Amino acid sequence: MNKLADTIQKKPWLGWLLFLGTLGAVFLLGLFATSISERRLESKKSFEWITPIGEQESDSAVWGKNFPREYDSWKATQDTSFKSKYNGSTMIDMLEINPRLVVLWAGYGFSKDYNQGRGHYYSVTDIRNTLRTDETAPGTCWTCKSSNVPRLMNHLGVADFYKDTWMHLGPEITNAIGCLDCHDPKTLNLRISRPALVEAFQRQGNDIKKATHQEMRSLVCAQCHIEYYFKDDGKYLTLPWDRGTTVEAMEAYYDEYQFKDFTHKLSRTPIVKPQHPDWETFQLGIHAQRGLACADCHMPYRSEGGVKFSNHKVQSPLNNIANTCLVCHRESEETLRNSVYERQDKISELRTRAEDLLVRAHIEAKTAWDLGATTQEMEPILAFIRKAQWRWDFVAASHGASFHAPLESARILGNAIEQAGQARLSLVRVLSKHGKTDAVALPDISTKAKAQSYLGLDMPSLKKKKEAFRQETLPQWENKAN
Ligand code: HEC
Ligand code: HEC
Ligand code: HEC
Ligand code: HEC
Repeated sequence: MNKLADTIQKKPWLGWLLFLGTLGAVFLLGLFATSISERRLESKKSFEWITPIGEQESDSAVWGKNFPREYDSWKATQDTSFKSKYNGSTMIDMLEINPRLVVLWAGYGFSKDYNQGRGHYYSVTDIRNTLRTDETAPGTCWTCKSSNVPRLMNHLGVADFYKDTWMHLGPEITNAIGCLDCHDPKTLNLRISRPALVEAFQRQGNDIKKATHQEMRSLVCAQCHIEYYFKDDGKYLTLPWDRGTTVEAMEAYYDEYQFKDFTHKLSRTPIVKPQHPDWETFQLGIHAQRGLACADCHMPYRSEGGVKFSNHKVQSPLNNIANTCLVCHRESEETLRNSVYERQDKISELRTRAEDLLVRAHIEAKTAWDLGATTQEMEPILAFIRKAQWRWDFVAASHGASFHAPLESARILGNAIEQAGQARLSLVRVLSKHGKTDAVALPDISTKAKAQSYLGLDMPSLKKKKEAFRQETLPQWENKAN
């Protein structure tokens, strides 16, 4: 028996004293803790408003006068120096490093130009510069790019905003993604400013206003980092979530409408191009299931002079492992980085297999058409290609999925590989029926330039046309400056 227990047995009142003393200490600690969290809440509520913020204030610099820490860290998304194994904030020409993409998106803007995403600071610059935005682009394309959008929607009406042309709205767009996109200017509470997300919730019978604070720390991102399409002639921005948010549920939605974004130039397959279903895929991974939100890893808390605030430099968490992963995990930075890379490597291996098979399927289908295959012969094949390409691109376009939800990503790619294989199996039969019994030769698509010239894309003239058009979409003042 130890000494203390021995003494207590001899003097029972000492035991009671110890017990009451501990009780008192716990009570005081409790008081202290509540006062800390109350003070934190207070400090959040009683902001010092130096400049009042207008209901439609799109300029983040004006908000920044009141909230310099958030503003400075938001501005830091200008930094393009970080590069991880697969992602990061540098501008990478994805078609250059993976020319298969040119063939996979043949007949669609993405085969002309596709760069890896940079920080929010560049959202307007990058959409203006890409060859994908031309005179055919609707106003809808601006929806996810600028904090001028809530003001314009308020002014024009939502449907008319979408219906407008990208070019006509261009001069109104002066600010990148900013404070107004995620915050209420009066209360500073997190707020959903984009109607498509609210409407998708409503159609599912849910009220987004009832979302918890932790859910909102992901839902503000889900205004843009989600799968969507432009519905009908009004180009009304719509999330295909009515049957659910899995890859199969969204496919069933699109199939019901017989929706397509483009017809593949080689295989003539009606293709749905997924955008970036980051929020949807994230839900299916362990971190979402354990209650994490996007902001936990992409906007971690930071302390400066005793003030705790959210780091608004939204970026790859691998550039800040100490304040993200290490808040919860005990392993070294290197181990954690490697566990991200390990998952990405494995998904990338499957992705490459799916891409290889799909490229072959598109080219073999073209050969079959050229040899006189009938629509009846080709239809079941194109159905397989459509399914395979939807799945492959769903994972490819959801940039963080190989870490957010590696198991789901592998499952989806496994199905894509099987479906592309089915398409090629049937193609062998159709090709041989039309006299082609040996393997279809693949063209040289070893570089972006070679792949684009295989498709007959005249890049120099496309670039020239784009530059003239870009000038017309600039804000007046910027136009003059140039
Ligand atoms: C208004 C639309 C919008 C909202 C809201 C939004 N994003 Fe983005 N995000 C974008 C666009 C557009 C880009 C690409 C910008 C570019 O490449 O020019 C991007 C880029 C990113 C990147 C890549 C940055 C880099 O350095 O590589 C990450 C990570 C990201 N967003 C995460 C988030 C998270 C997390 C949230 C919520 C806290 C969020 N985003 C909210 C539209 C949005
Ligand atoms: C547990 C931490 C964690 C959470 C939570 C999380 N992510 Fe990520 N995210 C990562 C990691 C790690 C990467 C891979 C970064 C890399 O490869 O450099 C990533 C990558 C991304 C990318 C691509 C970044 C780039 O540089 O191009 C986007 C976009 C993204 N996440 C958005 C989101 C969104 C939206 C949510 C919420 C729905 C979310 N993330 C939740 C850890 C997280
Ligand atoms: C992409 C969405 C997004 C954008 C853009 C954004 N914020 Fe935030 N903001 C958040 C999230 C998420 C939080 C965390 C809320 C929480 O955890 O309570 C937050 C928190 C805050 C807070 C509360 C204190 C803190 O730091 O946690 C302030 C103040 C704030 N933001 C100001 C701004 C300002 C000013 C801008 C523009 C320069 C801005 N925000 C842009 C999403 C955004
Ligand atoms: C807010 C806490 C939190 C943060 C931040 C966080 N994690 Fe986790 N992580 C968890 C939890 C909880 C689990 C699930 C563990 C369990 O329940 O056994 C998990 C699981 C994992 C797993 C195992 C996943 C699997 O496939 O089974 C890995 C790997 C991981 N985290 C890496 C990271 C990395 C890398 C980061 C930073 C980018 C990160 N985590 C950030 C809480 C966190």
